[in-house]
Order: sequence, then structure tokens, then C-alpha cells
Amino acid sequence: MSAAGPVVRMRDVSKVFTSVDGDRFTAVESLDLEVGSGDIVAIVGKTGCGKSTTFNLLLGLEEATTGSIELLGHDPYREFDWFRSKLGVIFQTDRLLPWRTALENARVGLEILDFSEKEQNDIALQWLHKLELQGFEDAYPHELSGGMRQRVGMARAFCLSPEIFFADEAFGHLDQSTARRLREVFLELVTESRKTCLLITHNIHEALEIGSRLVILGRPGRVLADMETPTNATRAEMAEFEDRVLDIIENNEVVG
Ligand SMILES: Nc1ncnc2c1ncn2[C@@H]1O[C@H](COP(=O)(O)OP(=O)(O)O)[C@@H](O)[C@H]1O
Ligand SMILES: [Mg+2]
Repeated sequence: MSAAGPVVRMRDVSKVFTSVDGDRFTAVESLDLEVGSGDIVAIVGKTGCGKSTTFNLLLGLEEATTGSIELLGHDPYREFDWFRSKLGVIFQTDRLLPWRTALENARVGLEILDFSEKEQNDIALQWLHKLELQGFEDAYPHELSGGMRQRVGMARAFCLSPEIFFADEAFGHLDQSTARRLREVFLELVTESRKTCLLITHNIHEALEIGSRLVILGRPGRVLADMETPTNATRAEMAEFEDRVLDIIENNEVVG
């Protein structure tokens, strides 16, 4: 962790949604989380436990009901504009613009940031190639497979050289082997960039493959456990670890 403090800091954060009838629903409760510079953290938890809500809070798309959130020392909700290009997001679905080619989709953030047209194309092409999309630069999203579209979405995020990467169920809708390969590519590029990464998933396998640290969320969103992912573990040890994670999720009680 750098002397400047953690890259992500959530303190006693809660998020309560109020319906039009005035019913209150707690999606996140007393959530504490710190992530240091360069950490790759997987956040795992059951569907509906508040993972995406946590992400929306971190991205400044929702305001916390109580508690404080700081990213790079700034409040993502109140200082939304400060974060321009500092956060790279990879969504569950690719969210590409259907009328734009792969290249035009990849460079969209650079256009908004007023990079010259040459820079936009140079940077976008570089990332499309790193993501193994040579030959598909001028293809439209409907001409690409799901995995390839997700790669274009990743290129779009990497183009901005963000400080923090966020991925929310980014591999969830792909077939297992495509998802696995894409996770490898993603992890390689994030590690190479030495940037901080938070990856959200309901898939424990995925969490263990990507994260060096595993944060288990319970329902409503709060940290049940925060642990190092075993390295160089045998298959049996890994299976045991996975069982333990499943138990913690099932029990929905804070460990420690
Ligand atoms: N805008 C909203 N208004 C009301 N309830 C919401 C809203 N967003 C999410 N929720 C509820 O909060 C809970 C957590 O949702 P979410 O964060 O999407 O879970 P996850 O991503 O872990 O599956 C769910 O019960 C969901 O229905
Ligand atoms: Mg979700």
C-alpha cells in the first residue's frame, strides 16, 4: 500500500433504496473495504447480495446513504468529474455502439477526452491488437462473437490507461472456455499495467483464478471474510478452499 493511503476506501457504507411506496430496502450495510495500489481483488457473493450496488457506489453512480467512500482520495459521487478517465469499467454485457466498428467503439473514450484523431486510432489499434483482434478492426459488433465483443469493451477501457479497473460479472455470459481465456488475457494486461483491479463475480472459480485476494460479501452487502487466495495450491487444497468459501457464503455470517 502506498504512503498516500489506499486506492479504495469504504467505511461503514450503507445503501438503502426507498420504493415509491416508501418501503425501505437495505442493499449494502456497514461495508468496510480497503484496497491498496496494484491489488487485484475479487469480490464474490450470492446474486442479489449487493455487489453491483457496491460497484455503482464506487463508480459514483449512486450516493451512499451513510458512511464514506474514497477512491484515490476523492469522493466518487461528489467529485464525479474528477474521475474522468481514471476508472476503467468492464460491464457484464459489452455495451458497444452497434453502428460503430470495433475501432470506433474502442476509441470512444479518447474522442470524449479530445485526443487527436491520430492518437485515438494509434492507441485504440494498439489495444485491439493486444486483445488479439487483428483483422477485426473494421468489423461491426454484430459481426463479432460474444467473446470478441467483450474484448472490444476491454480495449475501450484499457485505452484510457485508467488508475483502477472495475469488472462486474464481465465474463459471466460467455461459455466456459471463452470466459477462461478472456480472464487470462485480462489478468495479464491488468498485471502488466500494475493498476488496481476490483472484479465482481458470483462465480467462485472465477474469483479464485483472478484475485490474489478474495472478499466475500454476505446479504445485505457487507464483508463476511477477506482472505488471501492460496497460491501454488494442489487441486485438493483448492477444492477445500472453495468449499470453505461456499460455507461462508451459505452461513452468511461474518468470519473472524
Ligand atoms: N435501484 C434499486 N432500487 C431498489 N432496489 C434495488 C436497486 N438496485 C438494486 N436493488 C436491490 O438491491 C439488492 C442487491 O442488488 P445488486 O447490487 O444488483 O446485487 P448483485 O449484483 O449482488 O446481484 C437486490 O435485492 C436488488 O433488488
Ligand atoms: Mg450484479
